[in-house]
Amino acid sequence: MSIWRVQGGYPLEGSLTIQGAKNAVLPVLAATILTGCETELTNVPALRDVEASLDILRSLGCAADRRGDVVNIDSRDLTGCRIGRDLTGRMRSSIIFLGAVLARCGQARIAMPGGCELGPRPVDLHLAAMEALGAEVSVERDEIVCRADGLTGGPVRLDLPSVGATENAMIAACAAKGESVITGAAREPEIVELQGFLRALGADMEGAGTPVITVRGMRPVRRVGWRVMPDRIVAATVLCACACAGGDVELRGLDPAHVQSVSDQLAAMGARLDAGARWLRIRCQGRLRGGRTIVTEPYPGFPTDAQPLMMAASLKAAGQTVFEENIFEHRYRQAVQLARMGADIRLEGRRAVITGVERLYGTRVEAEDLRGGAALIIAGLGAEGQTDLLDRGHVARGYERFDRALNALGAHIEITD
Ligand code: EPZ
Repeated sequence: MSIWRVQGGYPLEGSLTIQGAKNAVLPVLAATILTGCETELTNVPALRDVEASLDILRSLGCAADRRGDVVNIDSRDLTGCRIGRDLTGRMRSSIIFLGAVLARCGQARIAMPGGCELGPRPVDLHLAAMEALGAEVSVERDEIVCRADGLTGGPVRLDLPSVGATENAMIAACAAKGESVITGAAREPEIVELQGFLRALGADMEGAGTPVITVRGMRPVRRVGWRVMPDRIVAATVLCACACAGGDVELRGLDPAHVQSVSDQLAAMGARLDAGARWLRIRCQGRLRGGRTIVTEPYPGFPTDAQPLMMAASLKAAGQTVFEENIFEHRYRQAVQLARMGADIRLEGRRAVITGVERLYGTRVEAEDLRGGAALIIAGLGAEGQTDLLDRGHVARGYERFDRALNALGAHIEITD
């Protein structure tokens, strides 16, 4: 447990290189067990979810070592095919190992990941995808059990563009005999990144970034090097922080197109956005304008992960801003905590109506999930006085030394454990 002490009232100034993407590196780490080769990953962020993934790889018999932002995985000696509750309880997205373990071992036993702070997190689409590739799937005593004497390529239809289910299908299909066509696939940049990594592992695959991904199998390779893409949600977080606290910040090392839906909203609220091939600059002076309706959708729509962040950026904007959260059931948990800081938020089911206030006030608040915690830090930066955020490790799951990153931009944040 740690307490973030955030002093409000300091605008953010300067430039920041964006960390490696949590939601890109997690499926890539799972995919390293596909071909039993050595993999060197660079630009790997120091995150609790990454550490949990490395522990899962070690529990399966792989070697996994980190030196700075370089992670080396050697999955030649993989022996296990079971991931227990002790590990899936640490990281809900452990389900992303299902396809890789099944493809490599012919079977997989993974403790049900369970819901999380965002609400129930079903895995039916993951299991249907494994069945579509010829696996026998059952749930035995709270464990997902998949068996397949060889996977068979074929059509895999996803009823929802689930990011994780798309990733599991892509990975498992690499080991299937014959061609697989995944339809209804998620189109997130992290899916395109995973296709790039799987191709580096020897996969014959195309279509990532569109709703149809075709996989024709894999020719194993011996050794692979891969650099993790920048984290678009961390970039969105810093953009929203600047919108709330004011200032002039340049983000480096990212593809601005990956945060287009967020920067478009901020520009419409009165922020000034300028972009180049691998940089994005935001300038915010004076009060932003509300009056927007922000609807979360699968990529390239407005990302659900940026909803709490944009909510924080909207709290002092003049007028009303309406949010519609269509991806997760309980993604407004930050609202109660933000209201303690003086925000005016009315929750109506999937909608949240923000009425802009002149000022926010620092007080004691608590992080209840990863992006909700980030939203409270953003609000603290734009509040008067000190905000003490109680965090039970949520923020460190997705943000690498975020206090240092923000302090380098002029924020005044101290963390005490
Ligand atoms: C990924 O989660 C991300 N996590 C999430 O980021 C992100 O919010 C989410 O995609 C949506 O973009 C990682 O990549 C590690 P989904 P995932 O399957 O794959 C329903 C963060 O803050 N669904 O696309 O778990 C599900 O209930 C995290 O970094 C089923 O119904 O999300 C949800 O309503 C939070 N059945 C919707 O699909 C299934 O089998 C989207 O979920 C799977 C999902």
